[in-house]
Amino acid sequence: MEGILRGKIHAAGPLTFPDYLMDHLYHPELGYYANAVRKIGRGGDFFTSVSVGPLFGELLARRFLRHFRESGSPSRWRLIECGAHDGSLAADVLRALRRLDATAFSRLEYVIAEPLAALKRAQQDRLAEFSEIVAFPDSLADAARAPLPGAAFGNELLDALPFHVVERRDGRWLECRVGIGSGDELAWQTAEIDDPRLAAELEKIGGDFPDGYRTELRTCYGDFLAPLASALDQGLMIWPDYGFARADYYHPDRRAGTLRTFLDHRAGEDPFVSPGGCDVTAHVDFTAVAEAAIALGARVLEFERQGAWLTSLAREWLMAQEGRPDAAALRQFQTLTHPAHLGGAFQVIELSWRPGTVADAETAARRLWG
Ligand SMILES: C[S@@+](CC[C@H](N)C(=O)[O-])C[C@H]1O[C@@H](n2cnc3c(N)ncnc32)[C@H](O)[C@@H]1O
Repeated sequence: MEGILRGKIHAAGPLTFPDYLMDHLYHPELGYYANAVRKIGRGGDFFTSVSVGPLFGELLARRFLRHFRESGSPSRWRLIECGAHDGSLAADVLRALRRLDATAFSRLEYVIAEPLAALKRAQQDRLAEFSEIVAFPDSLADAARAPLPGAAFGNELLDALPFHVVERRDGRWLECRVGIGSGDELAWQTAEIDDPRLAAELEKIGGDFPDGYRTELRTCYGDFLAPLASALDQGLMIWPDYGFARADYYHPDRRAGTLRTFLDHRAGEDPFVSPGGCDVTAHVDFTAVAEAAIALGARVLEFERQGAWLTSLAREWLMAQEGRPDAAALRQFQTLTHPAHLGGAFQVIELSWRPGTVADAETAARRLWG
């Protein structure tokens, strides 16, 4: 991997960080995620809400069923999962849907949007029992030609999308690119901002930051959401992830940004230590996600901490636990919702393309735009 990156830098000069990440994380053979089937969970590099157990998928399934019913229980509907990893979350969602509502289950098309061949194979193995319902298209073009009611979602997907790194110097922003250092190592190199989309995002965060302030920005949210929105008719989107509203993310005190590497459950900050060998991520600016969705015709339904969001989804499930508690599932619920665990670290944004009034929209807007 390092040879490929060096070759590109020698040929065309320093790489933007999104270009670096496209190889580091998503090179079809050597990228971190291309051979990462076992990298999530106890034996891997990090945990997610999915690796906590099947309850997360069951609660998501309950949210999707509400949307199915609010859409008039259509004769066909579609769920699109992105970043489905080894298919665990899909299996949890599908089992819960089958148990909770056989009619909705029989009308469902479950689409997995997966760019990486190795992950697609793992998903096909894991989901063999659902082979009549689950589709693995190479692109969403066919789905966009025949949009259906339904929802698109992905757990910890947005934080895995490539991002730019920028630094404040002498009262202006510079882009941090990847070049070759004096010791022949991969190293940061600053460059003038020449990408109009990056410049436009920087306008939104302003310039009131101390010298040396370093942070990250994504310009790709709209490009990522657009094909998903086109594949749904008045669809819903749900994106649980770690991140902040813009004002909290780009706070002058957060001087070193949120870029992190993960390997063997240890966090680091140097993305050049092991090209292709570790996860590299940055938090999500949920205000930017909301604005990208609004530009595509959506409204924000909710922006909430995962703990509160899951707790409100779990009402019926919690009632069913009274008198007949499932101790293992209750432990999962605690881990997913407790403010000191995933419930406080993660946020959930719900976006809707369906017209109508929205009960929690004002609260969400206050949290996103202040
Ligand atoms: C942190 S993992 C999350 C895996 C899983 N959802 C979970 O919660 O355990 C992020 C996943 O997003 C996938 N991904 C990144 N960009 C994507 C895209 N444009 N479309 C679909 N999947 C993508 C990566 O391949 C990776 O599998």
